[in-house]
Amino acid sequence: MTPPHAQQPTQPAGRPGLSQFRSSYAFLRGFVRNPAQVGSIAPSSRQLEQRLVRSARLREARTVVELGPGTGGTTAAFLRAMPPNAQLLAVELDSEFHRRLQASIVDPRFELALGSAERLDEFLSARWLPPPDAIISGIPFSTMPPEVSRRVAAAVARVLQPGGRFVAYQVRGHVSRFMTPHLGLPHRSWEVINLPPVRVFTWIKPGR
Ligand SMILES: C[S@@+](CC[C@H](N)C(=O)[O-])C[C@H]1O[C@@H](n2cnc3c(N)ncnc32)[C@H](O)[C@@H]1O
Repeated sequence: MTPPHAQQPTQPAGRPGLSQFRSSYAFLRGFVRNPAQVGSIAPSSRQLEQRLVRSARLREARTVVELGPGTGGTTAAFLRAMPPNAQLLAVELDSEFHRRLQASIVDPRFELALGSAERLDEFLSARWLPPPDAIISGIPFSTMPPEVSRRVAAAVARVLQPGGRFVAYQVRGHVSRFMTPHLGLPHRSWEVINLPPVRVFTWIKPGR
C-alpha cells in the first residue's frame, strides 16, 4: 500500500529545469539581500543533499530539525529520505525564503518556523515535538555574530536526544569551535561536488 505522504508532492509539479532555475535565482537574490546571513551564492548540490541524508541517518529518524532551509532543495531531499511516520521542523530566519517554503512544500510531515535557530526550544515545544534524533544545519556559523552562534550551539546541544546526530555543512570550520565544548570532537568529511566545496561535520550527542 502507498503510504499517505507518498501521494503528496513535496514541491509543486512543473518543468524540473525551470523550477531549479527559479530556486537558484531566488537563492541568489537572498544572498544579495543578506550575504552574511545566507552565506552562500547557490543552493546545495544533489551530492551534498545525499551526504547529509546519510550522515544524519535520516532513513531511520523520527524527529528531524533543519536549520536554514533556504529555498527548500535540502528540505525536499530530507523529506524524500525520511520514513512515513517521521516529522521535520524547518527553522528559517529570512521571511522571503519562509514565504516561498510555505507555498511550495506540501507534506503532512513538514512544519515550518520563522525566526532564529536560537529559539529552537520554543519552536519544538510550541508544536509538542519530542527531542529530535537529527538536526541538520546550513546556517553560516562563520559570518553570524559570535553571540548568535554561541546561542544556537547551546540550543542544539540542549534539545538533541542522547545518541542523536548534529550535522553541519559549512565552507569554513568555525562551527567546530562553537559546538565542540558541548558535544566533543566531530567526524569531518568534505563534499567537493558543491558550489563552493563544503566541510561536513557530524556530532553524536553522548549519553546513550
Ligand atoms: C547556506 S544557506 C542554506 C540553504 C539550504 N539549506 C541549502 O543548502 O541550499 C543558509 C540558510 O540559513 C538561514 N539562516 C541564517 N541564520 C539563521 C538563523 N539564525 N536561524 C535560522 N536560519 C538562519 C539563511 O537565511 C539561509 O536560508
